[in-house]
Amino acid sequence: MGPVALVREVTDSFTRCVTRRPAVPPLDPKRARHQHLRYRSALEMGGFEVRVVPGDEAHPDGCFIEDAAVVVGEAALIARPGHPSRLGESGPVADALSELVDIHTLDHGALDGGDVLQVGTTVFVGVGGRTDAAGAAGLEAFCGGMRRRPVRVPVESALHLKSGVTALDESSVLWHPDSCDRAVFAGLRVVAVESDDPEAANVVRLPDGRILLGAAHHRVADQLAGLGYGVVACDTSEFARADGGLTCLSIRLRHLPSQSLRR
Ligand code: GLY
Repeated sequence: MGPVALVREVTDSFTRCVTRRPAVPPLDPKRARHQHLRYRSALEMGGFEVRVVPGDEAHPDGCFIEDAAVVVGEAALIARPGHPSRLGESGPVADALSELVDIHTLDHGALDGGDVLQVGTTVFVGVGGRTDAAGAAGLEAFCGGMRRRPVRVPVESALHLKSGVTALDESSVLWHPDSCDRAVFAGLRVVAVESDDPEAANVVRLPDGRILLGAAHHRVADQLAGLGYGVVACDTSEFARADGGLTCLSIRLRHLPSQSLRR
């Protein structure tokens, strides 16, 4: 089957999302839902089949579904989010993923999917923020059987590794200078965003090859277009106020086996 993206409904409790700074004015679930619909449409227009996991009012951050699991090839590792309020988000996500891929479960440590960046056969894992050494070790063990090369990346100021660096294709990354040490990406093309644009490097690769980026980041749009990428913009500013980026809002399964038609 073709590429699938899982997204999760925005709940009324979105007003209580974990944020590093209080949101002023308060977070607006209605506005977030409106932007979420546009985000889903952009994923569909780019070639994903979008599946929606029901929300749970007990988990305001559940719409940031990416943190709940990591899919590598034909298997998913159900993660253990590093913020205590986010433990318990994963059940319905695991149920949805079990229709598509094999399920493995991290049993100790902390791992947020937002700290996991896959580029080609390398799996970079950001450690030091939400993800700890035990969580990274669990991910490394999971990757071991799948011919993937795990690489740890110290994360200091960013919430997640992918807050500041994401993949553009199988051999290129879009990187913000404050996100992590550029040297870990030796052998890959590194496209640097302007240092005064900290959220600009969080983009989603669409199956059709275009890059989905935040609507406010015009300079990056021009930069990527100049490098030959097709770009499409999406406004997810209400989620940004809740410390979430474009990648946080979906789990993308790009390479599903044909037997994944499990229902
Ligand atoms: N609000 C997203 C997070 O802190 O994980």
